Amino acid sequence: MQQRDAVTFEYQSGFGSEFATEALEGALPVGRNSPQRPPYGLYAEQLSGTAFTAPRHANRRSWLYRIRPAVLHGEFIELAHPALVTAPFASNTSPNQLRWDPFPLPDAPTDFVDGLVTIAGNGNAAAQCGMAIHVYACNRPMRDRFFYCADGELLVVPQVGALRLATEMGVLDVGPGEIAVLPRGVRFAIDVDGTARGYVCENYGALLRLPELGPIGANGLANPRDFLYPVANYSEREGTFELVAKFGGKLWRADIDHSPLDVVAWHGNYAPYKYDLALYNAINTVSFDHPDPSIFTVLTSPSDTAGTANLDVVIFPPRWLVAEGTFRPPWFHRNVMSEYMGLIRGVYDAKAEGFVPGGGSLHNAMSGHGPDAETFERASSAELLPHKLQGTLAFMFESRYVIHPTERALTAPQLQRDYAACWQGLARRFDPRR
Ligand SMILES: [Fe+2]
Repeated sequence: MQQRDAVTFEYQSGFGSEFATEALEGALPVGRNSPQRPPYGLYAEQLSGTAFTAPRHANRRSWLYRIRPAVLHGEFIELAHPALVTAPFASNTSPNQLRWDPFPLPDAPTDFVDGLVTIAGNGNAAAQCGMAIHVYACNRPMRDRFFYCADGELLVVPQVGALRLATEMGVLDVGPGEIAVLPRGVRFAIDVDGTARGYVCENYGALLRLPELGPIGANGLANPRDFLYPVANYSEREGTFELVAKFGGKLWRADIDHSPLDVVAWHGNYAPYKYDLALYNAINTVSFDHPDPSIFTVLTSPSDTAGTANLDVVIFPPRWLVAEGTFRPPWFHRNVMSEYMGLIRGVYDAKAEGFVPGGGSLHNAMSGHGPDAETFERASSAELLPHKLQGTLAFMFESRYVIHPTERALTAPQLQRDYAACWQGLARRFDPRR
C-alpha cells in the first residue's frame, strides 16, 4: 500500500450530517450551489442518493466541485464477472439450514472487484428492494481502475486485512472490526495492504439509517457522532484507466483518461462513511431472559411496512451476560425474517464449533435453528455468574425477504454438507414424572 504509514486522513463525524469540506481553501462556493463560475475553474455537480422529493429527514444529496464532471468517460461495454449475481435470484431455495467455511484467499493477483463472489440475495435490484450478500478476497490494489455500484449501496465488513477506500469524497481506512458504507453511485478505488477478505452487503432498498431508539431514549446502540465521513481529498491523475460500473445487475467497463477521484470540495449529506463496531453501546437485560437480537441493530434499511426491515445490520459484540435463571445463548427459534450470519473474529456463543471467522450461515424464514447440542448442554447446566463474552464479533444481515443462495454458493466445496448434524445430538429430555 502506498505510504500507508506516512499518510493519515482526517474525518468529520455525525451520521447523515450536512458536511462542508474543501481540499483547497476557497474551493467551496458560498451561498449558491452552482455559481456561474465556481472557484478554481471547478465544475459543480449534484449527486442525489434519494429522490429529489424525499422527506427532508431522509433526503440525501451532495454537491461536488470537481476538476471534470462525471460524464467524461468512454462508452460502457459489458464486462463478464460470472461470480457476481444480482437480484432477482433464481429460486429453487430449500428450507435447509446452510453454513459455509471461509472462501479461500486468492493466489493470483486479484483486486476487490475481481474478488467478489455472490453468496445469496433477495428482492429485485431494479425495483429497489432486497439485497445481495457477497464475500470478497483480494490481494491487489485497484491502481488504474475505478468502480461504482448503481444497483445499491455497498456495506463493507472487513474480516482479514485493512482496506483503503479512496472515494470521490475522500479516503476512508477500514479494517476488521469496522464497517464502511459506499453509497450508490459514488466512485472509488480500493487499496489493499497484503491480503484482505470480508463481506459486502449490497442494499438495493432504502438507504441504511440508524434505528429508532424508542424507550431506550436519546443515547445508545450506535451513536450518530461515531460515524466518520471523509474530508475532501482529490487526486489529479491522467492516464489510461478503466471505469467499472455495476448497473442493471451486470458489470460495465469504460475507458477513462483521468482519475474520477477529482473532487476538490464537497458539501452535503450523501457520502461514504465508516463506523468502529467497538463503539457500539450494547443494551441488554439486567434481570432475566434476553431481548430479541434486534436490540443489536447497527443500521437498518426499512421497507414499506413499519418495523419490517428490507435489511437490518446486526452485530453480536463483546458484552456482559448477567441474566438470572435464563438460558443465556441465543435460544431455539424460528423467524419470519431470514438471517445470514458471518463471523469477524472469535467464537459465536450459540455454536461450539463449525462457525468460523470468515465463514457464514443462512437460516431462512421459519427454518428452525439455535444452539448446537454441545452449546445447549453447556448453557443448560452453567452456573449463572456474571460472565463477559470477549474476543468475539459476529454479525447478521436480516431481511423480511427469503434469502436465495446462489448456485455457486450451493455447489462450493466450502458448503458444510453436514451442518444439520450439529443439532442431531439434542436428546429427548421429556419426562412427565419429573
Ligand atoms: Fe436466528
